[in-house]
Amino acid sequence: MNFTRADFPEGFLFGAATAAYQIEGHGFGGAGPTHWDSFSKGPGNVVRGEDGAVACDHYHRYEADLDLLQAGGFDAYRFSTSWARVMPDGRTVNPEGLDFYDRLVDATLERGLKPFQTLYHWELPSALADRGGWANRDTALAFADFSEVISARIGDRVASTATINEPWCVAWLSHYLGHHAPGLRDIRAAARAMHHILLAHGLAVERLRGMGRKELGIVLNFERALPASEKAADVRAADLQDQIYNRWFLEAIAHGRYPEGALEGLAPHMPQGWQDDMRLIAQPIDWLGVNYYTRSLIAAAPETPWPSLTAVEGPLPKTQMGWEIYPEGLHHFLLRARDALGLPVHVTENGMAWADQVEDGGVADAERQGFVADHLAAARRAIADGVDLRSFFYWSLLDNYEWAFGYEKRFGLVHVDFETLERTPKASYHALKSAITR
Ligand code: NOJ
Repeated sequence: MNFTRADFPEGFLFGAATAAYQIEGHGFGGAGPTHWDSFSKGPGNVVRGEDGAVACDHYHRYEADLDLLQAGGFDAYRFSTSWARVMPDGRTVNPEGLDFYDRLVDATLERGLKPFQTLYHWELPSALADRGGWANRDTALAFADFSEVISARIGDRVASTATINEPWCVAWLSHYLGHHAPGLRDIRAAARAMHHILLAHGLAVERLRGMGRKELGIVLNFERALPASEKAADVRAADLQDQIYNRWFLEAIAHGRYPEGALEGLAPHMPQGWQDDMRLIAQPIDWLGVNYYTRSLIAAAPETPWPSLTAVEGPLPKTQMGWEIYPEGLHHFLLRARDALGLPVHVTENGMAWADQVEDGGVADAERQGFVADHLAAARRAIADGVDLRSFFYWSLLDNYEWAFGYEKRFGLVHVDFETLERTPKASYHALKSAITR
């Protein structure tokens, strides 16, 4: 890697990120079913119909996984606390679930790692999905109760709490594009989810503040939307994509409003009285999390329903996901986040998937090392431009359950053999370790 810790401000944190359903294994320890357990069994939803039942078996191996973080020289660990593990039906407390996260946080601290908690990383309890999930306002109210329950148990020891991970995925990808659970392609459900997920954020922040909790934020995913050509129609399409994907959430949090073009299409489907929630949604937070992976080239698609746009394939080198590698986008969004909110920013996710294989006991992933170095260089430029960037979390510590793509796409710094569950640190893990070790 072409950097060392000394190239970053004093106190800058290097971490790795995971999420509960993607690594823990599910369906035991009193946890309740989630909408990913059932969505994964629908035809064509998930590669090979794979689910999170075993995943990396992190629930039973968390100490060894935390040892990997400690040995890798990391400062912080970003993880999520599963709602369905803590409250199997979304409302009733499962003491075993609380005990697990209590042990996890203590084990994180014992290794000198700062715990960064995420409250919602996508596995909605099925009992709430049955009642309409995020299309139903009540889900946001139940989420605030969950936030209080889990924070009462571990909130005294976590360094930071994010309410929601990637609201665009929770709302648009899952209710309009149908790629994630619950797999809907329904503009009305999508509009409601686009609002209720932000309401859930607002209610949770209010609740946690009331408990005296600090360092509260939200994690937004950003993707640079650029026009596929200079044609006016493509330029307009890219702008609309930017509004739906990036600006909807950022402007709601920062200014309590939704961008006009996106709202024009969604307004007829929004829940009644949504305007009254905007103050709550825009209440002060302490930091913003930026997840960044790629850009997209957007073209007008006049034959399709609103928003009448489509992504076309771009020319840049791509990861195993088929995503173009475009580090400039990270610089762009760090500045945009700073300009909108004027708050400390964390890169809560950045990383790439590659078809990694273990050979001679190691994994040679030169592409990933280049990817990380280039994105950290973009992050450094943002710092030089005045962004108060506090941390960088690589996604992910482990190869894991990549949602609709099952176990095929490998994002980890550590390779996982999903037959034996054996962990093998990749070359990128070792390279990052030498760059950040004090
Ligand atoms: C974003 C999500 O937060 C995470 O769950 C996912 O695995 C990565 N991006 C990679 O797609």
